[in-house]
Amino acid sequence: MSTPLTTTTVRILFEGQELEVPAGISVAAAVAGYAHPGHTCKHPVDGSGRAPFCFMGVCFECLMEINGLPDVQSCLVTVEEGMQVRRQPLPESIKL
Ligand code: FES
Repeated sequence: MSTPLTTTTVRILFEGQELEVPAGISVAAAVAGYAHPGHTCKHPVDGSGRAPFCFMGVCFECLMEINGLPDVQSCLVTVEEGMQVRRQPLPESIKL
C-alpha cells in the first residue's frame, strides 16, 4: 500500500470551482489532476484547446490566468491557499 507524499492540502479556485489539492504541487498538476479541465488555454492561431504537456516550463501549453495575472506558465507556479486560477483567455484582438 502506498502512502501519500503529503497530507497537507490547500484550496484553490479554478473557474470558480473549489479544489482541495496537495500542498506543494504545481498549479498545472492541480488543475489537470483534480479539475480535469479539458483545456487550460487556446492556441492563438486556430483556437484549438491546449493543456499542460511537459510540466517543466518548455512547451508553454499551460498558460493560465493566476490571481488575475495572464500568461503565467502554471507548471512553474506552486499552489497557494486561496489562489484563483482561470483558463487563459484569448486576446481581444484575436477573432476566430
Ligand atoms: S506544461 Fe509545458 S511549459 Fe508548462
